[in-house]
Amino acid sequence: MAVEQTLSIIKPDGIQKNLIGEIVSRFENAGLEVVAARMMHLSKEQAQEFYVVHKERPFFDDLIKYMTSGPVFVQALQGDDAVARNREIMGATDPSDADPGTIRADHAASIEENVVHGSDAAETAAVEIAFFFADNGVCPRTR
Ligand code: CMP
Repeated sequence: MAVEQTLSIIKPDGIQKNLIGEIVSRFENAGLEVVAARMMHLSKEQAQEFYVVHKERPFFDDLIKYMTSGPVFVQALQGDDAVARNREIMGATDPSDADPGTIRADHAASIEENVVHGSDAAETAAVEIAFFFADNGVCPRTR
């Protein structure tokens, strides 16, 4: 098992439902460590840049509206197989496909308003973490 870092976003619906602590606890209880965190309200430009890979998808405009509708809580998580671990804890993108007990099964309203984002691969995670936490924004655990 390799120690990895991954990016997690608690999306505007998760913040509105007051789930920050609930979601961070799930990560911590699964052995993941928070190594960076910030709360922010994404601009339209930031959301468009972050989700540029989905630019041609029919849901892109709605995704940008949703992601800029309220603040988000962004974290870098670290641990063994952190990318896959985070995705297991989140559950499938569409909450109707998500395994019972996952964040999306428990809290997501729809495939669009699905409470959390997580990086899909280690390479993507590095790019996504740098997007939010450039310039020493990640704080190594020293104990
Ligand atoms: P996320 O994992 O952040 O990646 C892209 C986001 O687009 C996804 O979660 C959803 O919030 C949103 N989305 C909306 N419609 C769809 C769809 N049909 N398929 C995938 N993602 C969608």
